[in-house]
Amino acid sequence: PITVKKICCIGAGYVGGPTCAVIALKCPNIQVTIVDLNQARIDAWNSDNLPIYEPGLDEVVKTARGKNLFFSTDVDKAIAEADLIFVSVNTPTKKSGVGAGYAADLNFLQRATRRIAEVSTSSKIVVEKSTVPCRTADAMRTILEANSKPGCRFDILSNPEFLAEGTAISDLFAPDRVLIGSLQTESGKDACAALANVYANWVPRDRILTVGLWSSELTKLAANAMLAQRISSVNALSAICEATGANIDEVAFAVGKDSRVGAKFLKASVGFGGSCFQKDILNLVYLSESLHLPEVAKYWKAVVDMNEYQKDRFSRKVVDTLFNTITGKKIAILGWAFKKDTGDTRESPSISICNHFLSEKARVNVYDPQVTEEQIWLDLDETSTNEVDHKQHVSISKSAIEACKDAEAIVICTEWDEFKTLDWAKIYEACPRPAFVFDGRLMLNRAELQQIGFKVVTIGSGDV
Ligand code: NAD
Ligand code: UDX
Repeated sequence: PITVKKICCIGAGYVGGPTCAVIALKCPNIQVTIVDLNQARIDAWNSDNLPIYEPGLDEVVKTARGKNLFFSTDVDKAIAEADLIFVSVNTPTKKSGVGAGYAADLNFLQRATRRIAEVSTSSKIVVEKSTVPCRTADAMRTILEANSKPGCRFDILSNPEFLAEGTAISDLFAPDRVLIGSLQTESGKDACAALANVYANWVPRDRILTVGLWSSELTKLAANAMLAQRISSVNALSAICEATGANIDEVAFAVGKDSRVGAKFLKASVGFGGSCFQKDILNLVYLSESLHLPEVAKYWKAVVDMNEYQKDRFSRKVVDTLFNTITGKKIAILGWAFKKDTGDTRESPSISICNHFLSEKARVNVYDPQVTEEQIWLDLDETSTNEVDHKQHVSISKSAIEACKDAEAIVICTEWDEFKTLDWAKIYEACPRPAFVFDGRLMLNRAELQQIGFKVVTIGSGDV
């Protein structure tokens, strides 16, 4: 196999940025250039204020940047110089046209692929890093081969990314596995070995799995669907717990002790968010339907339906508990990010929950330690139903204490560690009575809060 000396990564987002920064750190002999069309994003990557918040990322970038790690908007130059190109652009759910609401929008991916074909004057290994429907590599190959110059060969690999936001750097340092899919031809296997050698700089060989292209593409959708399915299962059970007096944490813990089930990813919540789970499951649903497998499509769609139900059920529970009306009442939402340790708000349950409260004409006070005020307004602008003027009914606070002042209900939507150690007694002093805490993440000490005087409502347990 060829020895990779120069890598280009197209797309400087949540995946391309951290992944290729870690490759640069772990492979000092490889020059890594991360490119993007978005000038502001590249400027931020080149500044002290990185465009994404991820524990440990600053240090990785500061160590490698300027040595063998570069961020640039000169897409063509980086493509032309590289022997291996990661395509790590966004593949959001289509908003219009055939498959709208389900299928992945592959426009960004195809534009990047065409650019590679147009600019390349030497052979390249092209790696699909973005999450894509099964057999997308085929379309990429056709585009590349139809547009290539004489003497240029393109080998396509699939190398899906399994990092989770908030733990991206530790996931990349010690991945459970690295998956590489290739065609089972000589040159396909050579390309696969070349990429495997890059990862082998820090990942043990037995964790680098090599499979066929289509298996690799499908594995990414399958992994996310199965992870999300566990959350929807536990959230479905949380509704039974609330109705019966069972406790979901106890049930999940005991079920997870069975080594066949395993303990991880069984935390009941307000519902899953993030840019991946819903998008990738809907993608799988669309794929199943296009393959004339309606029962399979229906099975996976239920995972997303249950998630919608959970978000709605939680919002309704707040309204019901506040004696069936929240009109004009002040409600604090603690946490806007879709999970702790990230500033990312894509598909965050907080957005749906806040909109539910707004449609009931509540006054909502939001606090999140990482999400910018600008982003919160953007999320509300994008999802507004125009029933209520959110600019009039929402305010954004600089601290949890400030957000909770005068609130009739405090609603925990994100499991930020700092919410555990808030001065809850002081918060209680500033709340009208009765003062309610709704713990959507099962993270607070219920007995302690009750001792202070709060009425506590927790997802997945019956007794208020
Ligand atoms: P993102 O939106 O943060 O980043 C994508 C970047 O690609 C953007 O900055 C955009 O400007 C750039 N881009 C788009 N078209 C381009 C082009 N033609 N040339 C140059 N740059 C271009 O997206 P992300 O969260 O990093 O996700 C990227 C892919 O990885 C998606 O397919 C996603 O499903 C997948 N993925 C995401 C995660 C995650 O945790 N976010 C995890 C695993 C896989
Ligand atoms: C996910 C996958 O974990 C990762 O492997 C893939 O590469 C991208 O998609 P991410 O969306 O970043 O990663 O975060 P994840 O930790 O999976 O959480 C997703 C959502 O599920 C969050 O809203 C989280 O709060 C929620 N969740 C997670 C639960 O509600 N309960 C759990 O037990 C775990």
